[in-house]
Order: sequence, then structure tokens, then C-alpha cells
Amino acid sequence: MTTTTQPGIRPANATGKITYTPVDGRLLDVEDLHVEFHTDDGIAKAINGVSFTLDQGESLAILGESGSGKSVTAQAIMGILDMPPAKIPHGAVKYCGVDLLTMPDDRRRWVRGAEIAMIFQDALSSLNPVFPVGWQIAEMFRQHRGMNKSDAQAQAVRLMERVAIPAAKERVKAYPHQFSGGMRQRIMIAMAIALDPAVLIADEPTTALDVTVQAQIMSLLQELQQERQMGLILITHDLGVVADVADRSVVMYAGRLVETANVYDLYRNPAHPYTRGLLESIPRLDQKGQTLAAIGGLPPNLLRIPPGCAFNPRCRMAKDVCRVDLPALREVASGRHSACHFAEEVIDA
Ligand SMILES: Nc1ncnc2c1ncn2[C@@H]1O[C@H](COP(=O)(O)OP(=O)(O)OP(=O)(O)O)[C@@H](O)[C@H]1O
Ligand code: SF4
Ligand SMILES: [Mg+2]
Repeated sequence: MTTTTQPGIRPANATGKITYTPVDGRLLDVEDLHVEFHTDDGIAKAINGVSFTLDQGESLAILGESGSGKSVTAQAIMGILDMPPAKIPHGAVKYCGVDLLTMPDDRRRWVRGAEIAMIFQDALSSLNPVFPVGWQIAEMFRQHRGMNKSDAQAQAVRLMERVAIPAAKERVKAYPHQFSGGMRQRIMIAMAIALDPAVLIADEPTTALDVTVQAQIMSLLQELQQERQMGLILITHDLGVVADVADRSVVMYAGRLVETANVYDLYRNPAHPYTRGLLESIPRLDQKGQTLAAIGGLPPNLLRIPPGCAFNPRCRMAKDVCRVDLPALREVASGRHSACHFAEEVIDA
């Protein structure tokens, strides 16, 4: 049996696995994370000093346009970045106080899935088309829990029922293509929670689904999160879908956090011009036909991020200082942080 004195790690349990316990409820501590991609054209600086935390039972939304670094952040946490071309020149991703980035590969593989699980946007390509869905769920119990075939199958049916797949007992033998997009996403969720992870990362889990199904999947995630007291990270470029689910949110731009706040404050009164622009781009049902005030211009090329505030070429409020000085993420009101030189003016606007 392994014993260790590292923070957060408990000696091996009855199943021979090392277990992790949160320190003061803290599950994740991402500290000054940097990720770059070494390409033929140069070094693309995808993540440039991202720090945030996640506690037990907390839902954190990571928001931002396409290319802002949301998925790369999630992949770094999961340890599924292809290295090379990716490189993590600096930073730490602590799970229960233990840095995953320096953890031995075999232990890291065990943490992935059993402790930190992830669901992706495209359930069809994440499921294996040649095996029945029930078999794919059961395999997780067989491999990780050493269950026999019939127990694993029974457990798979129970999980399919929990994620509200109708007639789960009969459909356990069906193949992925025999399910609708929403049902496939439920199966992905079942697989992700099968091993009772402490952290669930959902990367655009509803983007490929229609609006009604999106709402159902979001409320299922919320229910499971509360029932199991998981830490949930919800990644989306669609601010509309997370408003009811997330407690806290961080907004990313060009691989940095530009604003952090609880969801209510963020939506009611953003403290960064970029967040304001994102919110103005949400279609509103009560303003049918109104033109969306989308943010003009494009996110920067990560090979050549502009000096100063990376958002300055697109910002209506930009002044000379913005083209020279990089604004630090600082507390601008109680519990609220913004990386804008003029955050106080934005809040008061
Ligand atoms: N393997 C790679 N090689 C080079 N660049 C990459 C690689 N993977 C990601 N990137 C770049 O890193 C940046 C961040 O990508 P990421 O996938 O995190 O964006 P995102 O915020 O998740 O966007 P989306 O909303 O489109 O999913 C992008 O500019 C992307 O092109
Ligand atoms: S620092 Fe300047 S450019 Fe950046 S968001 Fe604030 S006002 Fe705009
Ligand atoms: Mg993404």
C-alpha cells in the first residue's frame, strides 16, 4: 500500500487506489497557466497566465469568443493536450493541492475520468460507433471498478435511467447512431459521471443541439452537479445558456482572463468592454428583429498579440495607455475583477 504525506492525497483505499480529498473544499487551483503551440509559423501563445479556482459544489462558467483559449485551458486541466505541438512553459494545475502537471503519467491517467471527467460538444464523434452504448458505459465499470459483465451492465442501465434515457433497459444494446443528438449527449454525460468524478468539465455541451434540448441538458447537468456536489466547469461562447446554471464566471480573451464575477453581477453590470460587447451580442426574445450589436473586428492572431491590452484594436473606449500598458486583472468592486484600465468607468456606464 502506498502512503504519502503530500497535501490532499490520502493513502490507498480498499481498491488499492490513491484517493484525493479537497483542502478546505478546494478542488482545483489553476495558477498562472501558460500554454503555447509551436507551429511552422512561430509560437502561438494560446494561454497567457490564467489563474482560477473551483470549489466542491461550485459551477464555474468559462466564457469567451471562439479562439479565446477555453478548450485549451480545459485540455490542460485534463492532461489531453498533444505535446508537442503544445508546451506548458509555466504554471500549475493543482487538484486537491497536488500539481497535475508534474504528476507521474500513470497516476495522471487515473485522475482523468475517475476524478476529473469531461464531456465534449460532439457526442457522436466521442462515442465509438461500433459498440452498443450500454457496453461502452459498462466497460468503464469493468475496467476501473473490476465489475463482472452482468453487474457492469446493470449499473449501465441504472446510469442511463438517471440521465433520463427512455426505456433504458431495452436501449442499452442500441448503437450511438440510433439515438438523437440530445440522447447521445445524455449518454456522454452518463459516461462522464460513471466513476463519480469530483470535477466535471463540460466543453460546449449543448452547442450542437436545438434550443429546447439545450435547456434540458443544462438542467440535467445542474441536477447532477447538486446531487453529487461536483465542481462543474461549463465552457461556452453562448452566455445565454449558462445564466441559470453557473455561480461564478470568468471571461477569456486572447488567452487571458479579462473579467471574473458572479454570474448575476456579470450579466447585470459588466466591468470590461469585452464582456459588455459579448452581452450585447446575445439575441433577446423581447427585442425581436433588433440588429445585434456584435463586437467589431476579430480576436488577435496569437502569433502576434498586440502590445498593451489585447482587446485595444476592437475597443471603443481604447486610449493611448491601452496600446502600451497591459492591464492587470484587479479587484474593481467587491468580489469582482477586471483587466481594463478604465473598469470603473465601464461599471458606472
Ligand atoms: N494544436 C494546435 N496547434 C496550434 N494552435 C492551436 C492548437 N490547438 C488550439 N490552438 C489555438 O489555440 C487558440 C485557443 O483555442 P481554443 O480551442 O482553446 O479556443 P476556444 O476558446 O475553445 O474556441 P471555440 O469557442 O471555437 O471552441 C486558438 O487560436 C487555436 O487556434
Ligand atoms: S484597457 Fe483599454 S482597450 Fe482594453 S478594454 Fe479597457 S479601455 Fe478597452
Ligand atoms: Mg473550444
